[in-house]
Amino acid sequence: MTERSLLVVVLAAGEGTRMASRLPKVLHAIAGRSMLHHVLETTRAAGATRVAVVVGPDREDVAAEVLRVRPDAEVFVQRERLGTAHAVLAARAALGTPVDDVLVLYADTPLLTPETLARLRAPLAAGAGVAVLGFRPVDPTGYGRLLTKGDDLVAIREEKDATADERAVDFCNAGVMALRGDKALELLSAIGNANAKGEYYLTDAVEIARAAGLSAVAAEAEVDEVAGVNSRLQLAEAEAILQARLRRAAMAGGATLVAPETVFLSADTRLGRDVIIEPNVVFGPGVSVEDDVVIHAFSHLEGAYLERGVSIGPYARLRPGTRLGAGVRIGNFVETKAAQIDAGAKVNHLSYVGDAHVGAGANIGAGTITCNYDGYSKHRTEIGAGAFIGTNSSLVAPVRIGAGAYIGSGSVITDDVPDDALALGRGRQAVKAGWAAELRAKRRKPQA
Ligand code: UD1
Ligand code: CA
Repeated sequence: MTERSLLVVVLAAGEGTRMASRLPKVLHAIAGRSMLHHVLETTRAAGATRVAVVVGPDREDVAAEVLRVRPDAEVFVQRERLGTAHAVLAARAALGTPVDDVLVLYADTPLLTPETLARLRAPLAAGAGVAVLGFRPVDPTGYGRLLTKGDDLVAIREEKDATADERAVDFCNAGVMALRGDKALELLSAIGNANAKGEYYLTDAVEIARAAGLSAVAAEAEVDEVAGVNSRLQLAEAEAILQARLRRAAMAGGATLVAPETVFLSADTRLGRDVIIEPNVVFGPGVSVEDDVVIHAFSHLEGAYLERGVSIGPYARLRPGTRLGAGVRIGNFVETKAAQIDAGAKVNHLSYVGDAHVGAGANIGAGTITCNYDGYSKHRTEIGAGAFIGTNSSLVAPVRIGAGAYIGSGSVITDDVPDDALALGRGRQAVKAGWAAELRAKRRKPQA
């Protein structure tokens, strides 16, 4: 079978009123990326050859997110909110060019899988005019009802326009529709607005297709997949569903999650085999972990790349730009940022390593701080391979510590240190014998 070309129209013109937010609804994030981003990724996985996104007026922020994620997508503006069919028709220019299938998705329905979309589209290849995704929610109130006769979808009735009998139907419209590409524009253009809301309903495409002699069918999806987000509560519910999926996929891929429900992943988290993740670990976006890495409890990672056999935490914080070479050890209460730490190096306790390069096998003692910021700009610290930084040292950047060099504990290092040298940057110790005893004698109160 040859691949069928696919135009996906994503409706992203929803207002965010019920989110009580300055941010448009579709830019709210789950698993580290916006809902719009999730839907755009789904279009990629579904094999879209062309993507059109319909946004509300003056929504440069939404348009910018579209182009950031899919630079090849076309953005259309729906100037007035006159209904779902009207919204799809805002992408008229895209609908007017030849394509096999058209798929309509909502940007506030981020959990759909490409497998379900493939199942929805399959009847189009067999000649159907329209295919609609249905589901059976616990409470159907507010949804359009799918009226079926055998395998045929006869009509979609919006709640406000439905009779009592029709409202008793529990098979509901998820809002996802696939249309035959050569008929889509014609069907959509025939939709009127004579209904309870006075809106152009996309759902009317079903009856119009049938009147034109085309068949309409419904496919069923799990409730979890079609969950739409209209509130912060539903955003949290969608997050929970997605986290459960991501955790299952991580474990199926060979990672041990000791307490899966306490580990939070991002949609783009990459985990190798035999990775062990202890409880209460959070992965922000952009984390990639190779095989045999151990992430101890209460660690937080973002924008970090961990090579094979690395061990971090408990209580480690890896910030963006962190790259840890094979076997690197990062211990408790260590923060790294824009830091390349080469194979076998150790930063075991209470340190900050930022804007730095640490050479292979170096040992960074407890309490070492790279002083990377002078109040105006950031500066780099270079630490050579095999260097030994004594505890509680401040490395004032820009500064370079040579390979194999030693830094005495408690030093403040402001000048470069050559390879294999010892640098001490602290006051010399003074010892006054008997001083404490003399003090006590002087201070002792005279006996009464
Ligand atoms: C719609 C469906 C309903 C389905 C439900 C699933 C229609 C007529 N009804 O109802 O059958 O059960 O979704 O959630 O399609 N939008 C625009 N511009 C508009 C109107 C809507 O972009 O002018 C976008 C919204 O932002 C939203 C989506 O289309 O993402 C659905 O619109 P909404 O008004 O929420 O439709 P429902 O009444 O929920
Ligand atoms: Ca809705």
